[in-house]
Amino acid sequence: NRSIDLAVIPGDGIGPEVIAEAVKVLHRATEAADVSVNLTEYALGAEHWLASGEVLNDDTLASIRGHEAILFGAVGAAPGDTRIPSGLIERDLLLKLRFSLDHYVNLRPAKLFPGVPSPLAHPGEIDFVVVREGTEGPYVGNGGALRVGTAHEIATEVSVNTAHGVERVVRDAFARAAQRPRKKVTLVHKHNVLVHAGHLWRRTVEAVAAEFPDVSHDYMHVDAATIFMTTDPSRFDVIVTDNLFGDILTDLAGAVTGGIGLAASGNLNMDRTEPSMFEPVHGSAPDIAGQQKADPTAAILSVALLLEHLGMDDAAASVTRAVEEDITSRAELTDERGTSEIGDAIAGLVA
Ligand code: NAD
Ligand code: IPM
Ligand code: MN
Repeated sequence: NRSIDLAVIPGDGIGPEVIAEAVKVLHRATEAADVSVNLTEYALGAEHWLASGEVLNDDTLASIRGHEAILFGAVGAAPGDTRIPSGLIERDLLLKLRFSLDHYVNLRPAKLFPGVPSPLAHPGEIDFVVVREGTEGPYVGNGGALRVGTAHEIATEVSVNTAHGVERVVRDAFARAAQRPRKKVTLVHKHNVLVHAGHLWRRTVEAVAAEFPDVSHDYMHVDAATIFMTTDPSRFDVIVTDNLFGDILTDLAGAVTGGIGLAASGNLNMDRTEPSMFEPVHGSAPDIAGQQKADPTAAILSVALLLEHLGMDDAAASVTRAVEEDITSRAELTDERGTSEIGDAIAGLVA
């Protein structure tokens, strides 16, 4: 029988709360599928940094690298916490993992499950995936500041887009679209202003499209994409976009599909040379942390993506089905359930 070996990084804020529920559901789903699971927890994040002055050292990274996949909660300090430099943990832990493990596909499905109330008056059928580039763009830290603190300060963040990086993520988007009923790719960018990167993305899409004659494609500027994502989200099938646009669009996609508490993601190394990492789209939510108010569903659906990536399609489907069943019953719930009650309910529905 199969066994899987995972690294678990619960992180900060609501991270540990939602990961506890995700692990509960993971155990249930794998037991049912006769798969044994070996979990190694890494206590990284704000507390670890405060205690040790380290975010992620080379030995720990090497150790994490040795697992088959990673389940990640969330990191990040509360806005008012002046003990921790802004974004330090996010960059030196989360982004460092995405970059070191070459997670070039940041896969973020957006599906409006039956029974889930959308904030949109006419949501229609929403079922698209955002293929967000994960290793380039303005995230690489390529920039600097001159004359800091003066009236003449100049700050730059240069977006890096390579032919290699753009091509592999665009190819992934087309390959995914080819497997979906509607077979459509929408490139979202801003090539009217961001000329150099924009044209690389457009040319790459045209070139890759030629290899996928069954897949149609179109283009939308990112500003217009926010309009259509709220007025007509059912027009999207597969969106491919850069790291920053993808970050912003997937919070919006989460909101229109019933809330950020339901939005799952996978940071994928599709070459499978390094472990992929699965995490909710949301952050550490300091405003509700420690109160059992977080919805663990996004983390639980991230477990489904993890199982799917590891080839355990049946176990993945049983998690998704359990979530769908639980979600359907939510409309009828008058009381507000706590994080672990939702986790228990979903675990109980895994068959
Ligand atoms: P956030 O996603 O943490 O929270 C935004 C809003 O959504 C908050 O009101 C929060 O309460 C709510 N929310 C988030 N997850 C929820 C859940 N599971 N259930 C119910 N409500 C939920 O974004 P933010 O406030 O911009 O960031 C907070 C911290 O998290 C910052 O330090 C930020 O850098 C970090 N962050 C980390 C990640 C990550 O680890 N992947 C992602 C985004 C933000
Ligand atoms: C996300 C987060 C991260 C990102 C931050 C915390 C670095 O917002 O996973 O969506 O911008 O990618
Ligand atoms: Mn984000």
